[in-house]
Amino acid sequence: MYRSHTCGELRLADAGKEVTLAGWVQRIRDKGALVWIDLRDRYGITQLFLDSNSDPKLVEQARTFGREFVIQAKGTVIERESKNPNMPTGDIEIRVNGFTLLNSSKTPPFTIEDNSDGGDDLRMKYRYLDLRRTPVRQNLELRHRMAMLVRNYLSDLNFMEIETPMLIKSTPEGARDFVVPSRMNPGEFYALPQSPQQYKQLLMVAGFDRYFQIVRCFRDEDLRADRQPEFTQIDCEMSFVEQEDVLNTFEGLAKHLFKEMKGLEFDQFPRMTWHDAMKYYGSDKPDIRFGMKFVELNEVVKGKGFGLFDNAELVVGINALGCSEYTRKQLDALTEFVKRPQVGAGGMVYIKYNTDGTFKSSVDKFYTPDDLKAIAEKFGSKPGDLMLILCGEAMKTRVQLNALRLEMGNQLGLRDPNKYAPLWVIDFPLLEWDEETQRYYAMHHPFTAPKPEDEALLDDPSKWGDIRANAYDIVMNGVEVGGGSIRIHDRTLQNKMFHTLGFTDEKAQEQFGFLMGAFEYGAPPHAGLAFGFDRLCSLFGGADSIRDFIAFPKNNAGRDVMSGSPAPIAQEQLDELQIGLNLKI
Ligand code: AMO
Repeated sequence: MYRSHTCGELRLADAGKEVTLAGWVQRIRDKGALVWIDLRDRYGITQLFLDSNSDPKLVEQARTFGREFVIQAKGTVIERESKNPNMPTGDIEIRVNGFTLLNSSKTPPFTIEDNSDGGDDLRMKYRYLDLRRTPVRQNLELRHRMAMLVRNYLSDLNFMEIETPMLIKSTPEGARDFVVPSRMNPGEFYALPQSPQQYKQLLMVAGFDRYFQIVRCFRDEDLRADRQPEFTQIDCEMSFVEQEDVLNTFEGLAKHLFKEMKGLEFDQFPRMTWHDAMKYYGSDKPDIRFGMKFVELNEVVKGKGFGLFDNAELVVGINALGCSEYTRKQLDALTEFVKRPQVGAGGMVYIKYNTDGTFKSSVDKFYTPDDLKAIAEKFGSKPGDLMLILCGEAMKTRVQLNALRLEMGNQLGLRDPNKYAPLWVIDFPLLEWDEETQRYYAMHHPFTAPKPEDEALLDDPSKWGDIRANAYDIVMNGVEVGGGSIRIHDRTLQNKMFHTLGFTDEKAQEQFGFLMGAFEYGAPPHAGLAFGFDRLCSLFGGADSIRDFIAFPKNNAGRDVMSGSPAPIAQEQLDELQIGLNLKI
């Protein structure tokens, strides 16, 4: 028996017990006659203790241990003289009467404690050591608990977890595929799934009317804090449902997670159309933990001789409560913020509504105090507030103002990670125009159904941008944690959709023929949704980066610095795959 208890388990009530523990040496304190060792395992830390009454050989042995040595210790649980209220095992220690060295360790490259001295890169390189740290381990524990809750909840609702293939056919829509060469079929490639979308629809045709899968997905896209090249979805699909059924089912799942993980209860999640989300927040994933809704000002600012506003398609602003005391320096910094290339605004106009009721603005030359008062009224501003205004092309300006709104939210501490604001964004546009390729793309994917009342617009190319889809996203705290849609199950409509997306019959047949073929054998009405599981975990863990919730993540360059992937492969491997490399160096 390597151990009778874990290192997180023993309490005062265990005093007097003879126990055996095993774990890693986190720290040794050697005060001459007294030696303490913090012994760590996955469950916690227990203090081992030796003093002048201990066998001197044991004390000598303890002095040979270094950090991260793996040891077994036998001893008696005793009450500590100076207790540590910050540790669950802080009331006791083990008076050691025997050690076994199970393995030695090189000195770790950083301290394996809650606050490590290791930088990001170093910790990534030695991820297996980083994973020994409590906060990192706890993130994976959270992930495990969430996965169990999801599985049980969905299984209780008759959802079946079914695995779908990882080596599939490359499809042109969406992000770039990761491709895998086929040795047995030279010159041909599999793709790794960006999502199991088509397979889950086939499962609906097959009659598995409630499917889910906690599944790895792969996308070769630029990486950010909330994007990894391989990530995990809670992928779901249902038959014989309408949008309302889908929203209710997955809202139920989200509420269950909030209740079990956080003890939080919610009323019905608010819903906002995509159109309103863009108009009032400049984002299809608004952070509604705080207000600062956009106020459109065209009617109160135009025609006063200020060319910039007069010529702009849209003048729009936000009201920052209680910020009229912002200094020149702070305002300049905000202007710099919106002018950064990532935001791209030309500048920013401010109006201070001073506490004495007067106004001070960067456009005093053009607007009288009465004009400014009218603007303030439009904003609903009160003395003490600060109005921040951008102008330009409508959609671009909204997106820029979204960046400013979020920045103000950060500055004012309004984005509390312990507060949760879920939201459904519904009625997404079906199609999205791409300037570069001069064509429409499916905003969600080509199987998403238009709203029945907008279906007729498919016949009029000038209206394609206005078609709304039965597509929805679930958003929490400004993060898109999931999305889905009602699917097209009618062959004629699907063909029309492909044509709209610029596919010829042959191309559609080549890319999606198997799905289209299946739809001829009785496809039920169906719909679904996928949550980004990593994002859900990081949100519940109160962190920004999903990397912290993935055991072995990639860095921002898509590299695993620990294993050294991606890496070149041997010429023999390439030859076997019949891939000629034409490297441009
Ligand atoms: P979508 O592409 O919106 O939908 O993806 C669903 C959710 O997956 C998460 N996600 C990511 N998480 C981490 N890293 C990434 N690179 C990444 N990309 C996406 C997001 C997103 O909301 N098949 C459809 C779903 C459906 O229609 O049922 C799909 O994949 O949280």
